[in-house]
Amino acid sequence: MIRPVPHIGSMAAYALADLGDEDTISLAQNESAFPTSPAAIKAGRDAMSDLQLYPDPEWSDLRAAIAEVHNVDPTRVLCGAGSMELIGCLIRAFSGRGDRVLGTDYGYAFVASASAQVQADYVRAREVDLTVSVDDIIVAVTPETRIVFVCNPGNPTGTLIPNSEILRLRDGLPADVLLVVDQAYAEFADQIHDPAEVFSLTDRGDTVVLRTFSKAYGLAAARAGWGYFPSEIATELRKLLNPNNISIASQAAAAAAIRDQAHMQDVVARTGEIRDRYAEECRALGLTVPQSHTNFVLLRFASTQEAQRADLALRADNLLMRGMGGYGLSDCLRATICEEAVMDRCLLALKGALA
Ligand SMILES: Cc1ncc(COP(=O)(O)O)c(C=O)c1O
Repeated sequence: MIRPVPHIGSMAAYALADLGDEDTISLAQNESAFPTSPAAIKAGRDAMSDLQLYPDPEWSDLRAAIAEVHNVDPTRVLCGAGSMELIGCLIRAFSGRGDRVLGTDYGYAFVASASAQVQADYVRAREVDLTVSVDDIIVAVTPETRIVFVCNPGNPTGTLIPNSEILRLRDGLPADVLLVVDQAYAEFADQIHDPAEVFSLTDRGDTVVLRTFSKAYGLAAARAGWGYFPSEIATELRKLLNPNNISIASQAAAAAAIRDQAHMQDVVARTGEIRDRYAEECRALGLTVPQSHTNFVLLRFASTQEAQRADLALRADNLLMRGMGGYGLSDCLRATICEEAVMDRCLLALKGALA
């Protein structure tokens, strides 16, 4: 019998969202509610005429586009097949058996899975009021801690801590602990906090910032993410990235998407309007809904049973939200913001379940 190495054999597979059947409307994966920029779709299609060639391993045009928009050094930008690929490579490069990777109570679940792949222990620092607590992270650091992951804004909470807290966290961590700031949803909060403040933390050599095209840019299917790295860390990471990791069409689409800032900002504004109205209506039904700075909301019910009733009522109308039992939040459902008509249907189903 062919056997995997023991730690892989005993590992659970990464828990993907339940996607239902073809009639199901998914509110489970935090995909964009709105179509991708037409310029991005055109660029992706046009790039398909050169499919006999491997894609650019340097992501030259994509990096140039990222650098133009964010005023960063293109040589310190690396791109991944989704930011997931970058997370996995960071963990493989900078932690190993017996090391600790420190996240927070409700940090992104994939980090735990990627840590298990290298036999690092994934540990969670407490969050307070469903919000990252810098003090709790700092006290949870031990000599074994190699990497700290902070997701800001948070998933699945949607909450945001100010840049000053990220800077305070960096100052409170030992110099040999890598800080990874996962900003998968940052475009929904860039109007509130100046992104340059966090990008410039990477100049210190011990901090990385990750972003993705999967959310505000509506390119989840393209699998394109990026990060801003200190040069020495980028050198190590490149050893682990798959060469030619992002397809030619995805690179072209992502470059055009980031150059179309007007489209992205419109998506962010429209998503935010629907989100805030929906959150308010859910609060009026008696649910607890933290202020979200993302394209989803976390709905907290009075009990696990009430959350289950709501989930059943939603499913009866082919609406699928994400259960949060894996985060220890079995009294919650996470709802990706979709177009208004879908959110109205969700509201109706919730009203029925809570009546
Ligand atoms: C917090 C967070 N980080 C990273 C990712 C990975 O995104 P992608 O691999 O699509 O770039 C996600 C996806 O849902 C996320 O929620």
